[in-house]
Amino acid sequence: MTEATSRLDLDGNNVSPLTICMIGAGGFIGSHLCEKLMWESEHTVLAIDVYSDKIQHLLEPGQAWSSRIEFHRLNIKNDPRLEGLIKLSDLVINLAAICTPADYNTRPLDTIYSNFTDALPVVRYCSDNGKRLIHFSTCEVYGKTVGSFLPKDHPLRQDPDFYLLSEDKSPCIFGPVEKQRWSYACAKQLIERVIYAEGAENGLEFTIVRPFNWIGPRMDFIPGVDGPSEGVPRVLACFSNNLLRGEPLKLVDGGVSQRTFVYIKDAIEAVFLMIENPSRANGHIFNVGNPNNEVTVRELADLMSEIYCKVSGRPMLEVPTIDISSKEFYGEGYDDSDKRIPDMTIIKKQLGWEPRTSLPDLLHTTLTYQHRTYANAIKQAISKSIASH
Ligand SMILES: NC(=O)c1ccc[n+]([C@@H]2O[C@H](COP(=O)([O-])OP(=O)(O)OC[C@H]3O[C@@H](n4cnc5c(N)ncnc54)[C@H](O)[C@@H]3O)[C@@H](O)[C@H]2O)c1
Repeated sequence: MTEATSRLDLDGNNVSPLTICMIGAGGFIGSHLCEKLMWESEHTVLAIDVYSDKIQHLLEPGQAWSSRIEFHRLNIKNDPRLEGLIKLSDLVINLAAICTPADYNTRPLDTIYSNFTDALPVVRYCSDNGKRLIHFSTCEVYGKTVGSFLPKDHPLRQDPDFYLLSEDKSPCIFGPVEKQRWSYACAKQLIERVIYAEGAENGLEFTIVRPFNWIGPRMDFIPGVDGPSEGVPRVLACFSNNLLRGEPLKLVDGGVSQRTFVYIKDAIEAVFLMIENPSRANGHIFNVGNPNNEVTVRELADLMSEIYCKVSGRPMLEVPTIDISSKEFYGEGYDDSDKRIPDMTIIKKQLGWEPRTSLPDLLHTTLTYQHRTYANAIKQAISKSIASH
């Protein structure tokens, strides 16, 4: 942990301490962002969420930063305190969302309300009160690549023009309305358009972040140990759960989808640059990902199995993966984006940011955390369930 020191922006100017209203501060990204803000800056955080477990370590009284973080347990759906907190701040960061693929089919209305309807007042309050907004969107707004519509062995599939996802060039291609998977991407795209229009018509100062699979410690939950009593987390936690329990990893539709993974701590550096360099970040949409860390989901499963064996000292399973259909795993209406490689031109030019951590390194750190945090709890949960049968 480094001491909070006065900070310089990319143009060599002192950064004045800000009051940041962070909505969704208790989630995966919020917890890492709060840590860095408390440990390495002098900014103040008004942290809003319905949960605080992941930032509890920062909220304990008597710490060097205690006067700079205030937790407000509120649901932004229906709480009149929200506008007041936004008025007290210099900058609003909105992370709050339902953002788990398993929910997009099974809870499409909640997904749309959370990602569009609940975000709308936040945008309006920022616009009406002249507050800067950093809004978290998603790389899912790109949908499918243009190349995915070509025959499987077509040479143009290898041409970056047909797969690279660029903020200012790529189209957003979603599947049919019956494929409810796209409810999330479509709601996120519409709120992006509202934010962009508020900027164009009413002068809202905004930055939109499109994360490309940020992963690391504290992502989601391990079913049966923490988190909600029902629900399916994102792929990192699903695979971690299988590994911790010594079960084969479930590969949806053969695990052929391609993804790029970036280490959460690298990605948080990018958000910090956006926070502290408004003149370079305002009015921009930024891809934040690591194009060098591309794998198919099957390759991710193999790599995680191999690394977990090293971390835990356990032998490799005889059958490390099993196939499952998306209908069985996610329910009716599932569909997927084929490949997600971020174009990094804009973020590199505006903020000079580049990711650093390789996939094996970030998985090693993350699986070490998962093993230390959950292995004993899982052992106890398994023996309890055996005893009760
Ligand atoms: N992690 C990634 O790789 C990734 C990828 C694409 C997009 N995103 C976007 O980044 C943002 C943060 O993602 P995350 O991974 O930290 O997710 P997360 O689920 O861990 O965090 C979201 C937080 O928002 C809170 N929240 C949701 N609705 C709320 C409400 N009505 N009132 C108050 N709090 C509420 C939740 O309790 C949760 O703590 C989301 O908008 C998500 O769509 C993340």
